[in-house]
Amino acid sequence: MPKQHTEICNELIGRLSEKHFLSYDEYLFLIKNRELCRNYIYTKAESQRNEIYGNKVYIRGLIEFTNYCKNNCLYCGIRQGNSNASRYRLSKKEIIDCADYGYKLGFRTFVLQGGEDPFYTDEILCVIVSEIKRRHPDCAVTLSVGERSFESYKILKNAGADRYLLRHETANELHYKKIHPREMNFKNRLNCLEELKSLGYQVGAGFMVGSPYQTEDDLAYELIFLKNLNPHMVGIGPFIPHNDTPFADMPAGTAELTLFVLALIRLTLPNVLLPATTALGTIDPFGREKAVRAGANVVMPNLSPTSVRKKYMLYNNKICTGDEAAQCIECLKKRIESAGCEIVVSSGDYRK
Ligand code: 5AD
Ligand code: FES
Repeated sequence: MPKQHTEICNELIGRLSEKHFLSYDEYLFLIKNRELCRNYIYTKAESQRNEIYGNKVYIRGLIEFTNYCKNNCLYCGIRQGNSNASRYRLSKKEIIDCADYGYKLGFRTFVLQGGEDPFYTDEILCVIVSEIKRRHPDCAVTLSVGERSFESYKILKNAGADRYLLRHETANELHYKKIHPREMNFKNRLNCLEELKSLGYQVGAGFMVGSPYQTEDDLAYELIFLKNLNPHMVGIGPFIPHNDTPFADMPAGTAELTLFVLALIRLTLPNVLLPATTALGTIDPFGREKAVRAGANVVMPNLSPTSVRKKYMLYNNKICTGDEAAQCIECLKKRIESAGCEIVVSSGDYRK
């Protein structure tokens, strides 16, 4: 029986590599039988990445500028309800200094990420975005600041923001309700993604693998959902529990499943920008290298001042919180090279 199943898996992976989509049942079959075809799918995903992007891996400088958040996502360490979190906000100058320092290190994309913090009004964010663009016109600015109004997205786009990351967290509305508080709304989140797209942002969606209550069926559906959404970027990493959240005792997602889903995404959306995430590097010491071997082509090292690193703790044991950005770059260069790729100085735009 397993032999037959292996043949079916290989046939499905072959077709996925050519046509870039499968049916829901076919994705589910692959996910359930992943032990039989893991190495084959990694090889296929890697050569798909090479075909579009070569062996180039793009770096994005992540500036975690606030850990205040008005939301209460059940999985997240910086949720409002976590009174153990020690809160910080970076000033305009601190943020711009981070970008200047990152530029010297070879970064050509800056990702401004934070909790949903009303302190950062459109006005303040616009000043920051336009100043970074003024100083570094050859760089892309990515925002990752959650759900905002259409107007706000529009103003920020006009101020110079190029890209926006907003993970949808799950494509299943019932599942969404299980991992978010009542006030948060799945439809609103999807609407935000549509609005961002319509404004001309390069858009990143994404979700956690192995988040509480997620099933293999949910994962199969994620692929159908992503195919339809067709985002420029997809950020996925394993769920990792955080001690001070309601999900403290939930099991973490696994590296093996995350890697398999990464490869499925690369083959489904051949041109997508696909990060090897810090969460994956946290649950597996070689997680990011393995991700590159499974089709990933982006890494997002931290540029935030070391003094605040440990405070942006979304989950337990997050790596690289004690290291200077320069150290991370050196470390990542070696890691990426060991996976047969090289880091490049480039804004790393989506390739059509
Ligand atoms: N484990 C892994 N990823 C997490 N995120 C938030 N909390 C966790 C956690 N406990 C992810 C979410 C969010 C992104 C910034 O980090 O998917 O969108
Ligand atoms: Fe930060 Fe290795 S990437 S220390």
